[in-house]
Amino acid sequence: MRRMIGIVGAGNMAGALARGWGEPVLATDAGSGRAQALVEEVGGESLGTDNAELFRRADPIILGHKPYQLEQVAAGVDAAGKTVISILGATTVEQLQAAYPGAKVIRAMPNTPVAIRRGVTCIAEGGEAAVPLFERVGRVFVLPEALMEVATASMGVTPAYVAVIAEASIDAAVRAGLKADLATDIFLAALAGSAELLQARGGDTLAVRREVTSPGGSTARGLAALERHGLRIAFDEAMRAVIQR
Ligand SMILES: NC(=O)c1ccc[n+]([C@@H]2O[C@H](COP(=O)([O-])OP(=O)(O)OC[C@H]3O[C@@H](n4cnc5c(N)ncnc54)[C@H](OP(=O)(O)O)[C@@H]3O)[C@@H](O)[C@H]2O)c1
Repeated sequence: MRRMIGIVGAGNMAGALARGWGEPVLATDAGSGRAQALVEEVGGESLGTDNAELFRRADPIILGHKPYQLEQVAAGVDAAGKTVISILGATTVEQLQAAYPGAKVIRAMPNTPVAIRRGVTCIAEGGEAAVPLFERVGRVFVLPEALMEVATASMGVTPAYVAVIAEASIDAAVRAGLKADLATDIFLAALAGSAELLQARGGDTLAVRREVTSPGGSTARGLAALERHGLRIAFDEAMRAVIQR
């Protein structure tokens, strides 16, 4: 029988994964009680702060703590023969292997929509064994490890970027006279449909843009205003900010 998935650090990201998987897990935290809250939702057992017990009983084990806690957590556990899947930002396979010498380590980077099984997970080459697990909660891309940082800056941050774009657009509509709840419904419906249209057009952004942009029309004026106010520069700067630690 397969062992239970172990979650070291039942925080936002690992919790989102567990909710997406929707199966009982073994979980720990640093004392906040979030592991208990998580298992009350998805089933399984909180082991409090006892990572050693979690490594004894679970396989695979997801590292969902903060990157700087890698050595501290690894020092207190025996991972020999286990699969350790790290979702830690900017933490290389080499660093993971040094921390867990006897384990099979995998570097993965999911985003929060895994909670509703619409996530994206990038996995560094060598971690193919984890693909089926993450395919249960969305799409999976296996990449050379050198591209993991850029990939993170393209998909890990997307839920936050989309949320802030939605907020800005809704606020602008409210200022122009729309009620907030109506502005929200309209924008979210337009966002979902536009994302699907882009998919249906094979990712051809120019084609989608041209279809709504009549010469001298309102969309053309709106797009020009966005460009004048630095939309592309803002995204470029955001990419730089994310990949530079
Ligand atoms: N948020 C994202 O969108 C995202 C996306 C991809 C990857 N990540 C990565 O996911 C990791 C966690 O990020 P997050 O945003 O989920 O942070 P978070 O919500 O702060 O969760 C971190 C969790 O780790 C727990 N923890 C800390 N030390 C521990 C220890 N020694 N043993 C067991 N658990 C411990 C914390 O416990 P307490 O609750 O007791 O404090 C907390 O539950 C980071 O490495 C980040 O790079 C995040």
